[in-house]
Parts: sequence; structure tokens; C-alpha cells
Amino acid sequence: MRRWTVGDGMGEQHRNLARKLVTALQRKDGDRDKRPVHTFGTGASGHFEPSPVAANFCDAEHFRVRTNTTIRFSNGSGSGVRRDGWSDVRGMATRFHLSDNKATDLIGMTLPVFFTPDGESFLKFAVEARPKPVQRETPWQKFRDMLRLTPPAPDPYAGETISPDAGAIAFAHQHDYARAGVFQAATIGAPTSYLRAAYHAVHSFVATGADGVQRWVRFSWQPVSGVLTTDPEKDPVVDDYLQKELAQRLRKGPALFSLMMQIGEVGDDFNDPTRAWPPHRMRIMMGTLYVETILDDTTTEKLSFNPHLLTKGIAPSEDQVLWVRKSAYEVSSGRRRGTPCPFHGEP
Ligand code: HEM
Repeated sequence: MRRWTVGDGMGEQHRNLARKLVTALQRKDGDRDKRPVHTFGTGASGHFEPSPVAANFCDAEHFRVRTNTTIRFSNGSGSGVRRDGWSDVRGMATRFHLSDNKATDLIGMTLPVFFTPDGESFLKFAVEARPKPVQRETPWQKFRDMLRLTPPAPDPYAGETISPDAGAIAFAHQHDYARAGVFQAATIGAPTSYLRAAYHAVHSFVATGADGVQRWVRFSWQPVSGVLTTDPEKDPVVDDYLQKELAQRLRKGPALFSLMMQIGEVGDDFNDPTRAWPPHRMRIMMGTLYVETILDDTTTEKLSFNPHLLTKGIAPSEDQVLWVRKSAYEVSSGRRRGTPCPFHGEP
């Protein structure tokens, strides 16, 4: 496995893998002018207020002063048809607008862990999890799944003819590291609102506190109104409700998320995004995001976020997935003619 480190920059080998990844993620039923994954999204603006203790643990500008933000919520699927009511991972990409026209991004999703530990294995995963014709499992197959302690392949929704689920589950049977992510993704459901989901940045970062102390950290957004998914037994499956719900909810006033920062300890895995840290690790409340105004699609659909757009006070770990995402998001943004990522970040 090729290990990328801080000094590697944008090596051609690195970009080659990124190109292959973006090609592998592009679905036949996708839209080439949109993102190959997290294709449907909706934007909002707001601001972030750091907590009184945040700067002690991370000296980055947005943990010292109030910052304006641009947020894009999304459905994880790369299909060209919006299916808000289908079970899917959701995303929340947040740009903090810093002084001197600089910015830093924090990209989260509703899974707490990723499917693979590096870019090469994610390429194999992406190929194996290409959408295939869906087949409803027989009661006997579901019983066999229960005996194997694996989630049964979900029953297809009305109108669902192809799905990545069977390939992803088959990959997880062959690769232990993929199990936590794939099995949670298979049963994740649909949120009642983008504002009622928790989003995890998944990777470890190195945060430098005001006193110069460096810590391994992981970030997640917790919705102040709590997590709530639709009830598949009772609620009708609606294709297009999340954008309308967001607009309606924000007319009543801002919606809040708390930014939590988990602090890693010796023995935790700092470079592998497939492995969660123990739940009892210390968590610091870093601040509150106020989601205020819905933005029209022309603003956020062309925007390009990047998990490597960092700022002084936060550095990347050597997580190989985090490193390959740097190039993959640039390649993807270029292909869909997105607004170039304002790469003022460090390094
Ligand atoms: C090797 C691993 C990964 C690859 C190759 C990959 C690839 C991509 C690509 C190509 C895009 C579209 C970017 C654009 O066109 O602007 C994207 C978007 C996104 N990805 Fe990933 N991704 C990876 C891992 C992750 C992880 C670990 C997370 C979880 C934090 C994540 C969350 C998201 C989200 C939320 C978006 C939508 C961002 C937006 O709204 O612009 N991805 N990904």
C-alpha cells in the first residue's frame, strides 16, 4: 500500500488514483454535471459561535471568534434521481469563512466510520458496490442472514431497480474492516429532516491548543433538536421533502447543531477511519452552529468543498483516505465544472 504523508503534495500517482476513484464512483444513472456521490443537496447559510473553552483545545480562528458559514446538506447516493425517503447516508459539508478571504471546511456524514482504510481498497469497494439489479431476498435468505449475524439486503423500494447494497454487503463479508460501515449504512434509514441527523467527520486531525499542546481529535455535529428518522412501517416514502422541510423550518428561526470534539488516547487508531474510538473518550463542546437561511441551488451546487481545506491550528493525520480525498474532490469538481476550491488552507 502506498502511504501518503504531509510532504507528498499533489504527486501524479496520487492524482491517478483520485481519477480512478472518481470514475469508479460515477454511476451509469448519474448526472455528469453533478457530484458523482452526494449528488442531491441543498444549501444554507449561518454562523458559528465558539464555546468559551474551544480555543484552549484548538487555536484555529473559528474556535476563537464568531464566523459566518455556508453549509450543504446532501443525500449520499450518486443516482441522478432524488430519493429523499430512501434509506441512505446523508452529508453535511460546512465552510467556515475566515478573515482575509480564507476558509476552512469540515465535511461530515451520518456514518461514524468509513468503509475502507485507504484509497486503493476504496477503489476495489467502489467497483464491487456498483449498482446491480435488485432482487428481493426470500424469507429463507433473510433467515440465513440472521444466522450469519448480518443485516439482510433491504427490500427494494417501489421504483428501485438497481442498488449498490448487495455488492457492498458482499465486499463486507470478505473484508472485516468494511463491516461496521457497510452494515450501518444498510440499515441507516431516512432522516425526518437534515436538521435531525448527527454528522461525523470520521478522520482524525491534530488540533493545537492555545498553549501549543497537540491532540488527536475527531469532530461530529450533534443536532440540538435530536436525531429522528422516518418510520418505514408508518410514514409514506416521499422523494422530495428534505429541501422543503429545511426551508419551512428555517422560516421559524435558526436551527442549532453542537460541534463536539472527541480527544483520542494512546492505543486509539489515529490513521484508520474504519475504526471508531471508544465511546467514553473525553468530548469537548467546541461551539454552536446556527443554520439560518436557505440558499438557492445556484450557490451551493457548483461550490467545491475539500476535507483538506484546513487552517492554522488543525492539521491532517496520516489517514490515507483523508489524503486521497484531497485530490479526488479536486478532480471531481473539475469534471463537473464546479467553482474551484479556494485552497488557502495549510498545508
Ligand atoms: C477515498 C474516500 C472518498 C472518496 C474517493 C470520496 C469521493 C467524493 C467525491 C468525488 C465527492 C464529490 C466532490 C465534488 O464534486 O465536489 C464527494 C462528496 C462528499 N463526500 Fe466523499 N469521498 C470519500 C470519503 C468520504 C468520507 C470519509 C466522508 C465522510 C466524512 C465523505 C463525505 C462526503 C460528503 C458529505 C460529500 C458531499 C460534499 C458536498 O456537499 O460538496 N466522503 N466524495
